[in-house]
Amino acid sequence: MRYTVLIVGSGGREHALAWSLARSPQVDKVFIAPGNAGTQAVGTNVAISVEDIPALLNFAQEKEVNLTIVGPEAPLAAGIVDAFQAWGLRVFGPTQAAAQLESSKAFAKSFMVEQGIPTAAYAAFTDYEEAMEYVTELKRPCVVKADGLAAGKGVIMCDNSEQAQAALKVIMQDRVFGESGNTVVIEELLTGPEVSILAFCDGKTVVPMPPARDHKRAFDGDAGPNTGGMGVYAPAPDISSDFIDEIRRLVLQPVITGMARRGTPYVGILYAGLMLTPDGLRVLEYNCRFGDPETEAIMPLLESDLFEIFMACTEQQLAKVNIRWRPGACATVILAAPGYPEAYPKGLPITGVDEANSHDEVVVFHAGTARNKGQLVSSGGRVLAVSATGGDLDAALRRAYGAIEDIHFDGMHYRRDIGKIQTG
Ligand code: AMP
Ligand code: GLY
Repeated sequence: MRYTVLIVGSGGREHALAWSLARSPQVDKVFIAPGNAGTQAVGTNVAISVEDIPALLNFAQEKEVNLTIVGPEAPLAAGIVDAFQAWGLRVFGPTQAAAQLESSKAFAKSFMVEQGIPTAAYAAFTDYEEAMEYVTELKRPCVVKADGLAAGKGVIMCDNSEQAQAALKVIMQDRVFGESGNTVVIEELLTGPEVSILAFCDGKTVVPMPPARDHKRAFDGDAGPNTGGMGVYAPAPDISSDFIDEIRRLVLQPVITGMARRGTPYVGILYAGLMLTPDGLRVLEYNCRFGDPETEAIMPLLESDLFEIFMACTEQQLAKVNIRWRPGACATVILAAPGYPEAYPKGLPITGVDEANSHDEVVVFHAGTARNKGQLVSSGGRVLAVSATGGDLDAALRRAYGAIEDIHFDGMHYRRDIGKIQTG
């Protein structure tokens, strides 16, 4: 039998997943809701927003979709997996209860403490005055975080009590992140290189992917504001396979075991954002989905059939799958719209993507693109993700940067130091 799949989302991550699934001999049809101009080339876009769970459900039933894969966190936090399962539909991703690991930082922190998972010391508050009192007495650098989803923006680094007070005001009083700021988490400020470990989970077994290193700041030298991610490479050469085993034992398996024990088994992608501090490994956060742009650098390294892995996860059979990765490395550079991550224009005509794609071992994933009367145009802040594989990281980087030379849109900006800087 050949299968029909539905991918929910519209970014570079979803293009990379669609690209990988379309290569599976078992997959006949790939739908992407809502998708972008890139996903349209490997499947069929469906004009349904990621938030419209009833419409997604109707679509999956109507088209007899065999497997749905959910890209972004918002529909997972809203319970899309529970809704699909209630109608007997197969879906890859955590339930609403399991997705709290990302949707509530206070939940994640107390879960980590309960499971003995190494993480920054913290306190959580719902009361503004109590939080203010705490940071006033703290007199140390700290990180103030809005509890809920804030598109990666609800994290404020503070050098002293005054900055922490200002951060609390922004989150709890000015409510810049809305309801996400009902609760705050205040953490000790850690230092060290960061690494993202993404893993496939079937509720019992957890299988890590190659470690990836994202570059979150907008400009070279790790300057400028935080973004969704400006580039990434995998594997991170400083993470040995012994260290991955340790990560699995200390920060991945305890999530699977703890969630199963709570009666909310974890099926889907578990993404651990880690910091390698002088005192050892610490979990900064868990995400309950594929990372973006991590996925754009990891998928080109996958030799096995992604569809088979997803199916095995939904059947608690992951232990039986032999997941193979190609040797070498993959590097991804994000091409962003002028102004990103602040306000940016849309609709900028893009040229040269086909030329870039024709380079050896290069694949250009679309992050924020659309077609306007046949012309490829930008439709988001992160516009394209240029990925290249190679025998080693340097070769991959050379290919990615070489291909970028062919691409143009007005005001296009990208980092020139991906993979060349020890970064978070
Ligand atoms: P989060 O969304 O919690 O991962 O935070 C986003 C980014 O903030 C991380 O990738 C880190 O660069 C930084 N960060 C978060 N928590 C801490 C911490 N306790 N100490 C230092 N940096 C942190
Ligand atoms: N690249 C960071 C994230 O997906 O959360």
